[in-house]
Amino acid sequence: MTDYKFLKPYTFAKKGITVKNRIVIPPMTEEMSFSNGEVTADELRYYHMHSGGAGMFITATANVNSLGKGFEGELSVADDKFIPSLSKLAEAMHKDGTKAILQIFSAGRMSSTAILRGQQPVSASAVKATRNNSETPRELSETEVEQTIKDFGQATKRAILAGFDGVEIHGANTYLIQQFFSPHSNRRSDKWGGSVEKRMTFPLAVVDEVQSAIDKYADKPFLMGYRISPEEIEEPGIRFDDTLKLIDALKEKPIDYLHVSMGDVWRKSLNDKSVTVPLNLTIKQHLGDLPLIGVGDIQTPADAEKVLDEGIDFAAIGRESLREPHWVQKVIAGDEKAIRYTISPADHEELGLYGTFWDFLITAFHNGLQLSSEPHTVDDRKKFNSTLDHIFGGGK
Ligand SMILES: Cc1cc2nc3c(=O)[nH]c(=O)nc-3n(C[C@H](O)[C@H](O)[C@H](O)COP(=O)(O)O)c2cc1C
Repeated sequence: MTDYKFLKPYTFAKKGITVKNRIVIPPMTEEMSFSNGEVTADELRYYHMHSGGAGMFITATANVNSLGKGFEGELSVADDKFIPSLSKLAEAMHKDGTKAILQIFSAGRMSSTAILRGQQPVSASAVKATRNNSETPRELSETEVEQTIKDFGQATKRAILAGFDGVEIHGANTYLIQQFFSPHSNRRSDKWGGSVEKRMTFPLAVVDEVQSAIDKYADKPFLMGYRISPEEIEEPGIRFDDTLKLIDALKEKPIDYLHVSMGDVWRKSLNDKSVTVPLNLTIKQHLGDLPLIGVGDIQTPADAEKVLDEGIDFAAIGRESLREPHWVQKVIAGDEKAIRYTISPADHEELGLYGTFWDFLITAFHNGLQLSSEPHTVDDRKKFNSTLDHIFGGGK
């Protein structure tokens, strides 16, 4: 069957940009960049091998300044010197019409003195995360906050010059932008903190700065997406009502899509067990015509079609795209039986999951990979997905 809704093109109304289908590869850090953040040849091979099927491919997150680095081997867009190698990355991702989106971020308190080579991590306030081995960050000064916002604009300029089709602002997964929105990590009493509205000041200022860079430097339509984590489990922490307020504010801004980070696209509330409707469906109602990307354990064509059937505009396939680089091509060829849902450790090089990426995967995501060499049950899968929700939302 090849008349799936997810194979139909989509045109972003504000920009007139058409993507060839509704399948997205979500951002996945691969820890394969050089230690200074420059793209490596292995990275180019991985992206080229996995591109060509999905309508949009979003890169691993890239830091907008040196204090924003959160992982070893992380991409960087913090300096003009990276533009030539980022151009090669955009080119590798542009296979067969796939649109290339650069995800931009600062890790804030989710970094460490070791990763920052002796510098203390920074955040909205000097409050450490509730995870083991977290370090207490240093509160950013007002001047530094203003500079960080400008760094997001500069990163956008570099993405435009490198030939990307858009940027995704990483406001999710407990990193700096979420830290400003969260009452756990933002205890400021200046204009950047306080009420839920004031905690939105930094995220919305980043959106405005990114838009100014687009207005100034893009000579063709350029997308701006925004990624959120809808809830935190910390007390105090982001609750779903706060997120709906943020979404209402984002709707007034010129963003092209919202991307909701979850381990299970049908997840309900982490905090309020009386909620019976999946958060994504409530979010879609709030968004109206603004497109939504749903993600979280979408594996089969039927899984992706259900996402579209329920009114969500795009289905993002993360870990499954690592196991099966030709997922879309096999669906189009009517060869769904050939789609791989497990991964053999012996195949990791053939799949472009080189050295440090593979090490990262089998360390941090072991139980969520579906290794053919190890038994796994649906329960294991669900358990791992809920761990992902905690990792990517907040809490231990
Ligand atoms: C190896 C790996 C790295 C990830 N890195 C990022 C990242 O850089 N930025 C981000 O927003 N999410 C990141 N995520 C989360 C994914 O984008 C996605 O939301 C998550 O894997 C759930 O989707 P899936 O079930 O289809 O894998 C990462 C996930 C994995 C597995």
